[in-house]
Amino acid sequence: MEEIRRGTPLMAYNSFGIDAFAESLVHIRQPEQLAPFHPGMPFRILGGGTNVLITSDLRGAVLRMEIDGIEVLQDNAQGVLVRAGAGQAWHGLVEWAIGRDLGGIENLSLIPGTVGAAPVQNIGAYGAELSEVFAWAEVWDLETGRTRQVKGEEAGLGYRDSHFKGMWKGRYVITHVVLRLQRHHRPNISYAVVREALEKRGITDPSIREVSNAIVEIRKAKLPDPACLGNAGSFFKNCSVDARRYSELKLRFPEMPAFAQQDGSFKIPSGWLIESCGWKGLSRGQVACYEKQALVLVNIGGATGQEILAFANEISQSVFNHFGLKLEPEVNIWGDSQI
Ligand code: EPU
Repeated sequence: MEEIRRGTPLMAYNSFGIDAFAESLVHIRQPEQLAPFHPGMPFRILGGGTNVLITSDLRGAVLRMEIDGIEVLQDNAQGVLVRAGAGQAWHGLVEWAIGRDLGGIENLSLIPGTVGAAPVQNIGAYGAELSEVFAWAEVWDLETGRTRQVKGEEAGLGYRDSHFKGMWKGRYVITHVVLRLQRHHRPNISYAVVREALEKRGITDPSIREVSNAIVEIRKAKLPDPACLGNAGSFFKNCSVDARRYSELKLRFPEMPAFAQQDGSFKIPSGWLIESCGWKGLSRGQVACYEKQALVLVNIGGATGQEILAFANEISQSVFNHFGLKLEPEVNIWGDSQI
């Protein structure tokens, strides 16, 4: 196979801080710039680069989504429909909403990355998910070279999942996202850590801004800032098991935490599984399992994507050996073999 031309360094474009190259990097500021790209061609879509692990130099183009702008499509007594460009920083949109006292995304404060990436993995945190406010996405269809709308129900949003990363991968590129935000919003403080942070400040009936501030504080205390320590947030998804499997595990590991889901399944925190296997705070070379949150892997400095992947595989294997549960990566793993 042909050698990959080291055209553009990607170090500044991925929050793990991996020193890899793409053959080219294209800054997409208008949907029409996607016209030359068709399914089957070697290219990848990049947002903020905050949820990707690059394990080699990349063949073809990296298309960096930089379509920006926030505009109100509809405004009434209940709330607004807001349309944002895929390249807009997610937290910038959260700040925009909070500044106008519009509720629905304050629990998703400080999530790194872009608006366009938000529906792809249905971002979620502190008891809220994008799916609750998602109205539609505008996508560029690489097969037809046209734009179309994908409505909320159509998009298959689930736990860190959607059709955009499933059956539509390589076909639809999200150019804009439209959200339904509320004017008289009752904040969601279902998570104990959020309530506790508010209570510490003497707040029992919080405003949207106060919820956001509390969440920003919690995230800053628990999660490493990619500007200081390379990482991509949770490396793995939490594990989902059915009720029978949960009972078996609970018998063997009575101290195992789990969260009952509406569909009868149970979510087991992968952070706990990893910590129980002794990985929290451990490092191998320049890669570590973060000392304050075992679900996060960090690049201490100069780690390669391959090294991080090997460490992640070692952790998965040990969790599997101990609990019989398979950890699924939450980050996208990008690599092209040179052989
Ligand atoms: N836990 C441990 N040890 C750890 C980490 C977690 O035992 O080192 C256990 C504890 O029982 C804790 C539970 O896991 O109560 C949940 O931990 P936490 O609230 O930190 O959340 P998480 O399940 O580890 C998920 C998301 C995060 C999101 C938080 C807050 C996934 C893959 N991750 O993490 O999202 O911020 O909930 O709601 O679902 C991300 O996607 O990048 C991300 C950071």
